[in-house]
Amino acid sequence: MGRRPFIIDCDTGTDDAIAIMAALYCDQVEIKAITSVNGNVAHKYTSQNNLDLLEYLGFDDIPVAKGADRPMLGNFFHADGTHGSTGLGSITLPKARKKTFDDQIASELIYRIAKEEKGELELLVIGPMTNIAICLLEHPDLKDLVKHIWFMGGAVIGGNVTTTAEFNIWVDPLAAHIVTQSGIPQTMVGLDVTTAAAMKEEHSARIRACGTKAGTLCADLLDYMFIRRDQGGEDALMHDAMAFAAAVYPECLECKDYYVDVEYTGEYTKGHTAVDRRGKLGRPANMSVALKVDEDRFCSWLMDAVRKSAG
Ligand code: BDR
Ligand code: CA
Repeated sequence: MGRRPFIIDCDTGTDDAIAIMAALYCDQVEIKAITSVNGNVAHKYTSQNNLDLLEYLGFDDIPVAKGADRPMLGNFFHADGTHGSTGLGSITLPKARKKTFDDQIASELIYRIAKEEKGELELLVIGPMTNIAICLLEHPDLKDLVKHIWFMGGAVIGGNVTTTAEFNIWVDPLAAHIVTQSGIPQTMVGLDVTTAAAMKEEHSARIRACGTKAGTLCADLLDYMFIRRDQGGEDALMHDAMAFAAAVYPECLECKDYYVDVEYTGEYTKGHTAVDRRGKLGRPANMSVALKVDEDRFCSWLMDAVRKSAG
């Protein structure tokens, strides 16, 4: 079987960067493009991080496109307390010198590649969903061209920004509503599972030992997260890499089909993913929702995924 074509749409971001590396070295997939969105940090940083990362790791042929610099409706808010002022924690990558941004904006590049791939394209969406929603509004036939969306976002219960909202969904709840209601097959990997597995120092040490640029960078990002954790911040949670694991290593997750919609108006509940676990809404399931993760399997998979950069 050939490699599955993917686009990664992201707000890079410490854990986004690790998810990207896991995907770049995965022999099941071919990364067709990386597109950026406002989110963890301002769009100028998420875009530059993608460009710098790909040039640094030598992926000269993968297009990098700029996307939306603000939500369609929502909260212009950044998570620089978690990801550092430019998104990669304490790490500064060399500025890309050869690689330039694609001429097309993210939504147009996604649509073009979706047409080229004739229904086979899969999207890994690990930031606010603005680019995908814009693409759906501009090109309604996108819904028939995308095979599956794997997204990090939401939660069955709770949130990490408000009592009921997870960051990616909360930043642009209208975009998330549009995407979840699009009819595209999708899998939601939310906080219920992403907060149930954290990378440890032993993983970082083994990743570093592979000696590659990617291994060193990943270990540096993890070590930044350990310091953050020890100072009372977020643990070394791999929110975004877990959405990629759902696509290529589903054995580490337990998922169930539900109807899900996103609240985009509520005073207290804006950005809440309403997961209809009891079938109260009487609507057919529109996605698969990750409910449980096997922490050991996931962390070992991720460690090996980045160690593959050693060839
Ligand atoms: C999500 O928000 C960002 O901070 C992470 O990169 C992840 O995509 C977790 O809520
Ligand atoms: Ca992210």
